[in-house]
Amino acid sequence: MTDFRFQADSLTCSGIPLDQIGNQYGTPVFIYSAQVLERNISVLKSAFETRGIHVSYAMKANSNIAILEMMQRAGFGVDIVSGGELYLAQAAGFEGNDISFAGMGKTRREMEAALEANVAQFNVESAFELEMLNEAATKSGKRPEILLRLNPDIDAQTHPKITTGLRENKFGMPPEEVFQHFVDREKYPSLDFTGIHCHIGSQILKPLPFMDLVDYLVNYTGNLGKAGARLTKVDLGGGFGVDYKTPFRDILETTPFLGEIAEYASEKLGHYQLYIQPGRVLVANTAILLTQVIGLKHNDLKTFIVVDGAMTDMLRPSLYGAYHALIPTRKRSGKMTVDVVGPVCETGDYFAHDREISTVLPNDFIALGSAGAYGYVMASTYNARPFAPEILIQTDGTVKTIRKRQTYADFLALNS
Ligand SMILES: Cc1ncc(COP(=O)(O)O)c(C=O)c1O
Repeated sequence: MTDFRFQADSLTCSGIPLDQIGNQYGTPVFIYSAQVLERNISVLKSAFETRGIHVSYAMKANSNIAILEMMQRAGFGVDIVSGGELYLAQAAGFEGNDISFAGMGKTRREMEAALEANVAQFNVESAFELEMLNEAATKSGKRPEILLRLNPDIDAQTHPKITTGLRENKFGMPPEEVFQHFVDREKYPSLDFTGIHCHIGSQILKPLPFMDLVDYLVNYTGNLGKAGARLTKVDLGGGFGVDYKTPFRDILETTPFLGEIAEYASEKLGHYQLYIQPGRVLVANTAILLTQVIGLKHNDLKTFIVVDGAMTDMLRPSLYGAYHALIPTRKRSGKMTVDVVGPVCETGDYFAHDREISTVLPNDFIALGSAGAYGYVMASTYNARPFAPEILIQTDGTVKTIRKRQTYADFLALNS
């Protein structure tokens, strides 16, 4: 199921021409399809929840309140990594019991806020965090559940900047250290050691790394059990990838292996309460970033299409060299090979290099695909560029602004 499609040579969402939205709301603008999000939610539910694996949405991928509310209404939990995310999750209606707190550098203040909120579990990543959390928990008179994040040294076969489960990465703890903490758990009387957490990376497009992770954990948790640990929970993290080349395809076409992984995990580890923490796969294909062509310039080597969207709206190409499809919203004949760049004063401000796209003219609109994950949440106001608005096309076809464009006056709001 896709909701973004060409109708009469014009790219639409739920039948509404994107050009119309661009003209009405201005650009750059993020445009979301509620239909696609509902579809993704239902696929994740039937792949995982029906097999007893609880989905905890990793809200770092997209923390707009309207999106969070849809996840909450779906019955998903939420995975947070900061005090700010805790605040937003609660604002969207998640209860403490729905929230797991990950993150490898939680501050004392963030721990206290999460204890106050009675979050369901803390995923702990270091010895110093055990000490700090035990102290904070003792002071609060609470005994939170903790899962230790284990770094299994499994290659997720993804981009180096989004690989997290290798020994050289900063995330989690080596298996021997996690084991020792379980053995020494009496040292932390205010912490209830209930499980293991892993997250091996992001944008993983093959099932094998997840199968390897499950196999690894079968063995590892078995050994922990023999050593006397009473484990009840295993959190397998997120990381399910999407196809950035074809952004308007259904989740089951781009990420067909969700059921296979769920089946394997529940078969091998189903004696534990299992969790996953997907972010990207739930939201990436729900949105496009619409940007307008300001002008074209040429030199002897290249043609540059200068658009009004920039790295400040979508950082991924600049940060990771990530590929995003660029689709002119109006079909014209002919093709051109171009660099698509933003107006920011950085050479790294680009959406594509040497990309063949259909012909565009000044004032045409271009949709950047798969903009729903790690898009707005990574935006900045560099060059004093306001945050773009977010528009949701609801399932009944009505258009709702779910975040307004920042104004210049907002830039001064925090000054004293
Ligand atoms: C601990 C943890 N869980 C879940 C996720 C979500 O990953 P993804 O959006 O690839 O599913 C991340 C992403 O960085 C993470 O660090």
